[in-house]
Amino acid sequence: MKNRLIVALDFANRKDALKIVEELGDLVEIFKVGMQLFTFCGPKIISEIKEKGAKIFLDLKFLDIPNTIEKASEAATFLDVDFFDLHISGGAEMIKAAITGAEKKAMFLGRNRPKILGVTVLTSQNSNISQVVDLSLIAKDNGLDGVIASGLEASEIRKRTGENFLIFCPGISPVWAKKQKDQKRLVSPKEAIENGANYIILGRAITSAKNPREATERILEEIE
Ligand code: C5P
Repeated sequence: MKNRLIVALDFANRKDALKIVEELGDLVEIFKVGMQLFTFCGPKIISEIKEKGAKIFLDLKFLDIPNTIEKASEAATFLDVDFFDLHISGGAEMIKAAITGAEKKAMFLGRNRPKILGVTVLTSQNSNISQVVDLSLIAKDNGLDGVIASGLEASEIRKRTGENFLIFCPGISPVWAKKQKDQKRLVSPKEAIENGANYIILGRAITSAKNPREATERILEEIE
Protein backbone atom coordinates (compact mmCIF):
# COMPACT_ATOMS: atom_id res chain seq x y z
CA MET A 1 0.00 0.00 0.00
CA LYS A 2 1.66 3.20 -1.20
CA ASN A 3 -0.64 5.40 0.89
CA ARG A 4 -4.27 5.89 1.74
CA LEU A 5 -5.33 8.34 -0.91
CA ILE A 6 -7.52 7.61 -3.93
CA VAL A 7 -7.86 10.34 -6.55
CA ALA A 8 -11.17 10.62 -8.42
CA LEU A 9 -10.60 11.19 -12.14
CA ASP A 10 -13.80 13.14 -12.70
CA PHE A 11 -12.90 14.42 -16.14
CA ALA A 12 -14.73 14.63 -19.46
CA ASN A 13 -11.92 13.24 -21.58
CA ARG A 14 -9.04 10.80 -21.56
CA LYS A 15 -6.37 13.40 -22.10
CA ASP A 16 -7.07 15.29 -18.87
CA ALA A 17 -7.47 12.05 -16.92
CA LEU A 18 -4.22 10.54 -18.19
CA LYS A 19 -2.38 13.79 -17.56
CA ILE A 20 -3.29 13.66 -13.87
CA VAL A 21 -2.35 9.99 -13.63
CA GLU A 22 1.04 10.83 -15.07
CA GLU A 23 1.47 13.86 -12.85
CA LEU A 24 0.56 12.02 -9.63
CA GLY A 25 1.53 8.46 -10.49
CA ASP A 26 4.50 8.33 -8.13
CA LEU A 27 2.42 9.67 -5.22
CA VAL A 28 -0.91 7.90 -5.74
CA GLU A 29 -1.47 4.22 -6.31
CA ILE A 30 -5.25 4.03 -6.89
CA PHE A 31 -7.30 6.18 -9.25
CA LYS A 32 -11.07 6.22 -9.35
CA VAL A 33 -12.87 6.05 -12.69
CA GLY A 34 -16.44 7.22 -12.29
CA MET A 35 -19.52 7.61 -14.43
CA GLN A 36 -18.43 10.68 -16.34
CA LEU A 37 -15.07 9.43 -17.56
CA PHE A 38 -16.29 5.88 -18.17
CA THR A 39 -19.33 7.06 -20.12
CA PHE A 40 -17.23 9.32 -22.30
CA CYS A 41 -14.24 7.05 -22.85
CA GLY A 42 -15.45 3.48 -22.41
CA PRO A 43 -13.43 0.57 -21.05
CA LYS A 44 -10.30 1.51 -22.96
CA ILE A 45 -9.57 4.20 -20.38
CA ILE A 46 -9.15 1.44 -17.78
CA SER A 47 -6.36 -0.26 -19.67
CA GLU A 48 -4.75 3.07 -20.50
CA ILE A 49 -4.54 3.97 -16.82
CA LYS A 50 -3.38 0.50 -15.85
CA GLU A 51 -0.58 0.71 -18.42
CA LYS A 52 0.80 3.57 -16.34
CA GLY A 53 1.10 1.21 -13.39
CA ALA A 54 -1.88 2.46 -11.39
CA LYS A 55 -4.69 0.53 -9.73
CA ILE A 56 -8.32 1.20 -10.58
CA PHE A 57 -11.43 1.71 -8.53
CA LEU A 58 -14.34 1.54 -11.00
CA ASP A 59 -17.04 3.65 -9.33
CA LEU A 60 -20.21 3.00 -11.32
CA LYS A 61 -22.38 2.34 -8.25
CA PHE A 62 -24.30 -0.60 -9.69
CA LEU A 63 -27.98 -0.86 -8.72
CA ASP A 64 -30.30 -3.20 -10.63
CA ILE A 65 -31.93 -6.63 -10.51
CA PRO A 66 -29.64 -9.50 -9.48
CA ASN A 67 -29.24 -10.98 -12.97
CA THR A 68 -28.17 -7.66 -14.46
CA ILE A 69 -25.76 -7.03 -11.61
CA GLU A 70 -24.23 -10.48 -11.92
CA LYS A 71 -23.45 -9.74 -15.59
CA ALA A 72 -22.16 -6.25 -14.83
CA SER A 73 -19.86 -7.71 -12.17
CA GLU A 74 -18.55 -10.21 -14.69
CA ALA A 75 -17.79 -7.31 -17.01
CA ALA A 76 -16.00 -5.31 -14.30
CA THR A 77 -13.97 -8.40 -13.43
CA PHE A 78 -13.11 -8.92 -17.08
CA LEU A 79 -11.77 -5.33 -17.19
CA ASP A 80 -9.43 -6.35 -14.36
CA VAL A 81 -10.22 -3.42 -12.09
CA ASP A 82 -9.02 -3.70 -8.50
CA PHE A 83 -12.22 -2.41 -6.90
CA PHE A 84 -15.77 -1.70 -8.00
CA ASP A 85 -18.93 -0.74 -6.15
CA LEU A 86 -22.69 -1.17 -5.92
CA HIS A 87 -25.51 0.27 -3.85
CA ILE A 88 -26.17 -1.80 -0.71
CA SER A 89 -29.80 -0.68 -0.95
CA GLY A 90 -30.14 -3.14 -3.87
CA GLY A 91 -30.48 -5.83 -1.20
CA ALA A 92 -28.97 -9.17 -0.22
CA GLU A 93 -29.83 -11.03 -3.42
CA MET A 94 -28.29 -8.33 -5.58
CA ILE A 95 -25.13 -8.25 -3.48
CA LYS A 96 -24.75 -12.03 -3.65
CA ALA A 97 -25.28 -11.96 -7.41
CA ALA A 98 -22.48 -9.41 -7.74
CA ILE A 99 -20.09 -11.62 -5.81
CA THR A 100 -21.13 -14.70 -7.81
CA GLY A 101 -20.57 -12.89 -11.13
CA ALA A 102 -17.14 -11.64 -10.08
CA GLU A 103 -16.06 -15.01 -8.68
CA LYS A 104 -17.21 -16.95 -11.73
CA LYS A 105 -15.45 -14.65 -14.16
CA ALA A 106 -12.28 -14.46 -12.08
CA MET A 107 -12.11 -18.23 -11.84
CA PHE A 108 -12.61 -18.52 -15.60
CA LEU A 109 -9.79 -16.02 -16.20
CA GLY A 110 -7.54 -17.53 -13.55
CA ARG A 111 -7.11 -14.46 -11.41
CA ASN A 112 -8.39 -12.93 -8.18
CA ARG A 113 -11.73 -11.16 -8.27
CA PRO A 114 -11.86 -7.40 -7.69
CA LYS A 115 -12.77 -6.23 -4.21
CA ILE A 116 -16.40 -5.16 -4.12
CA LEU A 117 -17.55 -2.22 -2.02
CA GLY A 118 -21.05 -1.20 -1.03
CA VAL A 119 -22.25 2.39 -1.15
CA THR A 120 -24.05 3.14 2.13
CA VAL A 121 -25.54 6.62 1.76
CA LEU A 122 -24.09 9.15 -0.67
CA THR A 123 -22.00 11.79 1.07
CA SER A 124 -24.08 14.40 -0.76
CA GLN A 125 -27.11 13.37 1.33
CA ASN A 126 -27.82 13.85 4.99
CA SER A 127 -27.92 10.65 6.98
CA ASN A 128 -27.53 9.30 10.47
CA ILE A 129 -24.99 6.91 11.86
CA SER A 130 -27.44 4.09 12.51
CA GLN A 131 -28.68 4.03 8.89
CA VAL A 132 -25.11 3.89 7.59
CA VAL A 133 -24.05 1.26 10.14
CA ASP A 134 -27.10 -0.92 9.36
CA LEU A 135 -26.25 -0.82 5.65
CA SER A 136 -22.61 -1.64 6.45
CA LEU A 137 -23.70 -4.70 8.41
CA ILE A 138 -25.87 -5.86 5.48
CA ALA A 139 -22.80 -5.41 3.25
CA LYS A 140 -20.60 -7.42 5.58
CA ASP A 141 -23.15 -10.19 6.24
CA ASN A 142 -23.58 -10.74 2.50
CA GLY A 143 -19.89 -10.96 1.74
CA LEU A 144 -18.85 -7.53 0.46
CA ASP A 145 -15.26 -6.51 1.11
CA GLY A 146 -16.09 -3.08 2.44
CA VAL A 147 -18.21 0.04 2.25
CA ILE A 148 -18.17 3.63 1.14
CA ALA A 149 -19.32 6.01 3.83
CA SER A 150 -18.44 9.42 5.17
CA GLY A 151 -15.71 9.93 7.73
CA LEU A 152 -18.42 10.84 10.21
CA GLU A 153 -19.55 7.21 10.39
CA ALA A 154 -16.19 5.49 9.90
CA SER A 155 -15.35 4.87 13.56
CA GLU A 156 -18.72 3.30 14.34
CA ILE A 157 -18.51 1.13 11.20
CA ARG A 158 -15.00 0.05 12.19
CA LYS A 159 -16.21 -0.86 15.69
CA ARG A 160 -19.08 -2.94 14.35
CA THR A 161 -17.41 -4.63 11.36
CA GLY A 162 -13.89 -5.35 12.62
CA GLU A 163 -10.38 -4.78 11.36
CA ASN A 164 -10.48 -6.46 7.96
CA PHE A 165 -13.48 -4.68 6.50
CA LEU A 166 -12.57 -1.90 4.08
CA ILE A 167 -13.87 1.62 4.64
CA PHE A 168 -13.49 4.14 1.81
CA CYS A 169 -14.41 7.74 2.60
CA PRO A 170 -15.33 10.37 0.02
CA GLY A 171 -16.73 13.69 1.18
CA ILE A 172 -13.28 14.87 2.23
CA SER A 173 -12.65 18.55 2.65
CA PRO A 174 -9.16 19.80 3.45
CA VAL A 175 -9.43 23.02 5.49
CA TRP A 176 -7.52 24.96 2.82
CA ALA A 177 -9.72 23.80 -0.09
CA LYS A 178 -12.95 25.28 -1.33
CA LYS A 179 -15.92 23.51 0.27
CA GLN A 180 -17.85 21.52 -2.37
CA LYS A 181 -21.46 22.67 -2.26
CA ASP A 182 -22.95 19.32 -3.31
CA GLN A 183 -21.28 17.35 -0.50
CA LYS A 184 -22.98 17.33 2.90
CA ARG A 185 -21.26 14.83 5.20
CA LEU A 186 -17.76 16.28 5.09
CA VAL A 187 -14.68 15.70 7.23
CA SER A 188 -11.00 16.57 6.85
CA PRO A 189 -8.47 14.03 5.54
CA LYS A 190 -6.95 13.62 9.00
CA GLU A 191 -10.30 13.07 10.73
CA ALA A 192 -11.35 10.40 8.23
CA ILE A 193 -8.11 8.46 8.72
CA GLU A 194 -8.26 8.85 12.51
CA ASN A 195 -11.82 7.54 12.44
CA GLY A 196 -10.73 4.35 10.73
CA ALA A 197 -10.92 4.94 6.98
CA ASN A 198 -8.60 2.67 4.99
CA TYR A 199 -8.71 5.10 2.09
CA ILE A 200 -9.90 8.64 1.55
CA ILE A 201 -11.21 9.62 -1.88
CA LEU A 202 -10.58 13.12 -3.16
CA GLY A 203 -11.61 14.64 -6.44
CA ARG A 204 -11.94 18.35 -6.97
CA ALA A 205 -9.68 19.47 -4.10
CA ILE A 206 -6.88 17.90 -6.15
CA THR A 207 -8.05 17.91 -9.75
CA SER A 208 -9.29 21.51 -9.71
CA ALA A 209 -6.33 22.82 -7.73
CA LYS A 210 -3.96 25.21 -9.47
CA ASN A 211 -1.20 22.77 -8.68
CA PRO A 212 -2.63 19.24 -8.25
CA ARG A 213 0.71 17.81 -7.19
CA GLU A 214 1.13 20.34 -4.42
CA ALA A 215 -2.45 19.72 -3.25
CA THR A 216 -1.77 15.97 -3.20
CA GLU A 217 1.44 16.41 -1.22
CA ARG A 218 -0.36 18.59 1.26
CA ILE A 219 -3.06 15.96 1.81
CA LEU A 220 -0.50 13.17 2.11
CA GLU A 221 1.40 15.17 4.72
CA GLU A 222 -1.79 15.64 6.69
CA ILE A 223 -2.61 11.92 6.77
CA GLU A 224 0.92 10.60 7.34
O1 C5P B 1 -14.71 16.22 -5.76
P1 C5P B 1 -15.00 15.35 -4.58
O2 C5P B 1 -13.79 15.14 -3.68
O3 C5P B 1 -16.25 15.76 -3.82
O4 C5P B 1 -15.30 13.91 -5.25
C1 C5P B 1 -15.73 12.82 -4.53
C2 C5P B 1 -15.81 11.63 -5.45
O5 C5P B 1 -16.29 10.50 -4.73
C3 C5P B 1 -16.75 11.81 -6.64
O6 C5P B 1 -16.16 11.17 -7.75
C4 C5P B 1 -18.02 11.06 -6.25
O7 C5P B 1 -18.67 10.48 -7.36
C5 C5P B 1 -17.47 9.98 -5.33
N1 C5P B 1 -18.37 9.43 -4.32
C6 C5P B 1 -19.04 10.21 -3.39
N2 C5P B 1 -19.89 9.63 -2.48
C7 C5P B 1 -20.06 8.30 -2.47
C8 C5P B 1 -19.38 7.50 -3.40
C9 C5P B 1 -18.52 8.11 -4.31
O8 C5P B 1 -18.86 11.42 -3.36
N3 C5P B 1 -20.83 7.72 -1.56
